[in-house]
Amino acid sequence: MANSEHTSWDVVIIGAGYVGLSTACSFVSLGLRVASVDVDSERVQHLRNGVAPFQEPNVEQLMRRGLTEERLLFTDDPSVVADTDVVFLAVPTPRSADGSADISYIQRAVASISDHLRDGAVVVNKSTVPVGTADQVAELLADKPVHVASNPEFLREGSAVMDFLYPDRIVVGAQSEVAVRKVLRLFDGVDADRIITDTRSAELIKYAANGFLSAKISFANELSALCEQAGANLDDVLEGVGSDRRIGHKFLAAGPGWGGSCFPKDTLALLSISEGFDYEFDLIRAAVNVNRRQYERMLDKIIAVVGGDLDGVHLAAFGLTFKAGTDDMRDSPAVQIINGLCDRGATVGAYDPAAPQTPLNRRLLHDNARMVETPYDAACDAVAAVVLTEWPMFASMEWGTLRTVMAGDALIDLRSVISPTLATGAGFRYIGLSTPAG
Ligand code: NAD
Ligand code: UGA
Repeated sequence: MANSEHTSWDVVIIGAGYVGLSTACSFVSLGLRVASVDVDSERVQHLRNGVAPFQEPNVEQLMRRGLTEERLLFTDDPSVVADTDVVFLAVPTPRSADGSADISYIQRAVASISDHLRDGAVVVNKSTVPVGTADQVAELLADKPVHVASNPEFLREGSAVMDFLYPDRIVVGAQSEVAVRKVLRLFDGVDADRIITDTRSAELIKYAANGFLSAKISFANELSALCEQAGANLDDVLEGVGSDRRIGHKFLAAGPGWGGSCFPKDTLALLSISEGFDYEFDLIRAAVNVNRRQYERMLDKIIAVVGGDLDGVHLAAFGLTFKAGTDDMRDSPAVQIINGLCDRGATVGAYDPAAPQTPLNRRLLHDNARMVETPYDAACDAVAAVVLTEWPMFASMEWGTLRTVMAGDALIDLRSVISPTLATGAGFRYIGLSTPAG
């Protein structure tokens, strides 16, 4: 297929962000010819030079392979879609003020390609889009002899390419068999269940999966609160619950609350979709409320540990990204908690092993928070240190040195990554997720 006479590009992907670029690279690794289109010309220039806009395993390596083998093109010219049968849309669908997903990027992307699509092409929504979006795209393209399909993406940041190449399932929603066939041909090298359905069901599967995972984590976070009240051991409780194979350990880790660019926006969008169909999705509403309460609980815990007043108190924060394995600070629980502490008068030294000190990242943080180069810089003169992201390196720090540079002895581990025995052995007061703060 890669050398088909009729197809210059096996696939064109609109949007070169986490999903679009990871998808492009994954298709390159499957031997396909891929064109990647982005409106951001500066981004396109960097991509042409083999530089990815974010840190993601395997991406730069595959970009360079694709560029060297001339099987990968980066361009800001949407007319390149004239040379393919399949066009993926991987543009943002951010949260609108009312919580619904904003599909204006999809509409603009469709407008940019519509005059160039060849007859019989399939336009595939890979972005996470509300139920009915494929129908709307089909309306926008009503005068073109093309197909519209939905192929939701389940990859995670930090393991995007591996998740794409080794998924649990590939979901394709479409109204025509031709469209399904054209999309599935691209995935010939991927061994996974195929779930073929209509576009509305495919769109809902994506939100339902993110909703379920968010609810599962919220369940674990509720258990952390209950364990604290009941004097139960959270680690043991989660081990005991997750060991039931019907439940499983994955996405059952309690923490400071879930964040990132997807779960927060997608749970609100799912609530909005449900309301649009006159249905109140109580479970997702509860998951969102529990998540907000978890942030507040974490703030209260830290405040209680330092004695009830944060005014002028200096704290150390270990972790800024929304989870380990990524450099992404968007909608990070760590950032939210640090800013909450600063709002209450604290100053914070924050260390993260991956988040770059870009102007954009600095703008996400309160003026009282400073990004520093090492955990020891962060800890210097701090009354308490708080672990906010589960980076493995936080499990093996030089506890003695840390304790010496700090002004206080409290180590608050909101990600359960530090051994309480090691911490207390070095003279720390260890406070875990379910340790009473008082
Ligand atoms: P992103 O912000 O990282 O990237 C989007 C890219 O699209 C940007 O480079 C932007 O310049 C480009 N763009 C915007 N409008 C365009 C247009 N008209 N033409 C060409 N390019 C355009 O976004 P993302 O994280 O890749 O998310 C994209 C979609 O995928 C969203 O719907 C998101 O919910 C979904 N999703 C994201 C993830 C994830 O882990 N980030 C996983 C699964 C699904
Ligand atoms: C999530 C989903 O896992 C992907 O399947 C989905 O494709 C993606 O959203 C999306 O739709 O964009 P991602 O946002 O990369 O992926 O990150 P996750 O690994 O899911 O973590 C999300 C948040 O939940 C993080 O803040 C993380 O720390 C938290 N989390 C995760 C927990 O608190 N406990 C867990 O057990 C797992």
